[in-house]
Amino acid sequence: MKHFISMKQLTNDTIFHLIETAELCKSLDVKIPNQLFSANLFFEPSTRTKMSFTVAERRLGLEMLDFHTETSSLKKGESLYDTVKTLESIGANIAIIRHESDDWMTELDTGINIPIINAGAGKAEHPTQCMLDLMTIYQEFGRFIGLNIGIVGDIKHSRVAKSNAYALHNLGANVFLCSPPGYEDHTLGFPCITIDEAVENLDVLMLLRIQHERHQRELKTEGYLEYFGLTKEREGRMKEQAIILHPAPINRGIEIDSDLVECGRSRIFKQMSNGVYMRMAIIVHMLTEWGIINGNFIKKCE
Ligand code: CP
Repeated sequence: MKHFISMKQLTNDTIFHLIETAELCKSLDVKIPNQLFSANLFFEPSTRTKMSFTVAERRLGLEMLDFHTETSSLKKGESLYDTVKTLESIGANIAIIRHESDDWMTELDTGINIPIINAGAGKAEHPTQCMLDLMTIYQEFGRFIGLNIGIVGDIKHSRVAKSNAYALHNLGANVFLCSPPGYEDHTLGFPCITIDEAVENLDVLMLLRIQHERHQRELKTEGYLEYFGLTKEREGRMKEQAIILHPAPINRGIEIDSDLVECGRSRIFKQMSNGVYMRMAIIVHMLTEWGIINGNFIKKCE
């Protein structure tokens, strides 16, 4: 794999390999033996993805370049390509990029000679979030085949929804979508259900926030929880073993009752912890694919 951009690039075998590697990164002191540099380029706000990549890189022993988009020469009009090429020339061995554009990676497709990891692309894909979601589901159920999984909320503007719907379907889960009117994405081709059908039938309820920053018109949130969100009454109708996921940030009291964010069936903060180990696994995988490190070093950590 050249760059880690889309879930469509990953075979199911690679997904299981990454989950296994992430579990090793969790249980072992995994340090890359070579001195390597990483560059994190975040053009959109981020708490979880940026900080968990930071922790993942530190745990692996990577040196992070002190790069900030807002004080870089991007402000003088330098292109994304020239920025990444410059960081590569200076010595970065890997770049992590989040950008509001759906297709920022096309200008980097040729000419860049270090691995790039997609940390969020507009409304299109968020593959590292998807991988940590898959890790969390697999920890819980030990399988994907036959699980009923619902993606609930502003699907139209969600990159998390796109990555997860594709990957979960390929792994054998039954994927259902549930959105307020106008926020569906019928191009995904999965059955649409109501929130009440979702809570009673699903094993995994994956809630999404309203992506106000991507809307042309403001979506009014009064009544959202009552009509489209997870209330305490609805949570009480969920299957006994069913779990709640949410990529966060969470709009407490809008897509989910605030009291449910840390309830017994919520795995929301577990997802965030898993994000560190999964991002370590993805960095190791990409550096190994490029021949920058020998991935067998993990075995020596045991
Ligand atoms: N889930 C997620 O991508 O969160 P951040 O925007 O805080 O990185």
